Amino acid sequence: MEVAKTIESVRALVKAARSKGKKIGLVPTMGALHIGHISLIEAAVKKCDFVVVSIFVNPTQFGPGEDFEKYPRPLDADLEICRKAGVDVVFVPTVKEMYRSENLTWVNVEKLTESLCGQSRPIHFRGVTTVCAKLFNIVAPDIAFFGQKDAQQAIVIKRMAADLNMPLEVVICPTVREPNGLAVSSRNKYLTEEQKKDATLIYKSLQKCREMIDAGTTDSETIIAEMRKILSQAPSIAIEYVNIVDAGALQAIDPHACLPTGRRGGKVLAAVAVRIGPACLIDNILVDASKK
Ligand code: PAF
Repeated sequence: MEVAKTIESVRALVKAARSKGKKIGLVPTMGALHIGHISLIEAAVKKCDFVVVSIFVNPTQFGPGEDFEKYPRPLDADLEICRKAGVDVVFVPTVKEMYRSENLTWVNVEKLTESLCGQSRPIHFRGVTTVCAKLFNIVAPDIAFFGQKDAQQAIVIKRMAADLNMPLEVVICPTVREPNGLAVSSRNKYLTEEQKKDATLIYKSLQKCREMIDAGTTDSETIIAEMRKILSQAPSIAIEYVNIVDAGALQAIDPHACLPTGRRGGKVLAAVAVRIGPACLIDNILVDASKK
């Protein structure tokens, strides 16, 4: 496994692999790798012949007062995980390498970035799409892999790639959960054992949503109220949002007639964001409301 620190070196390694006819996979990460990332790497190893993992804590997607400085950076452990998982190259640029001069060019996906996390993190998705566009230009992968846990991010990146005719496929891999349902996340590291227990209410609230839709509830306001009730069982949880949106457009659905036979029908995304102690945690499920 090679560790590339510069844009030129990762490009040279990918060029050599491509010249041998290899299919290139990219797994963009911010490090602090866990079993969720490993599942993305495994998917990349399965589908591609040459796998690049980028580890870069991207400053432009963090707002003021967010956890950019505190974000965990256990590089040696991350490299070991990559080595064991069969990664070919880990790209570990510095901030100076990725943003060589004042950044005047941004990639911004409209509409899809306005709801859910976009409401409280106004510059977040612009930073994500800009750094992903840069990584796609640097590595030129055939396929890039992202996790469903960050559902809005995944939809936004897919849309960016489609709108800008980027010559790659964006593959979204399923959310990996602890046995108690908690979605694995680098930010779970911020939680105490007690807070981790409280955090299991997030998935419980999402399961409640699925149960209610399965049982024929068509009123999303009623479902959201029940989800909020579950989350309120832990005083450590401060709700940022609980929402059920159209899974394609990420827009609010008709609150009284959307499930299952309303105007949009089809798949809905139930999404939750909460603060627990120092961590902001997000999770979601997709529910096919039209089949119920
Ligand atoms: O999901 C992440 O870890 C980051 O948002 C990403 C996609 C690596 C961009 O910095």
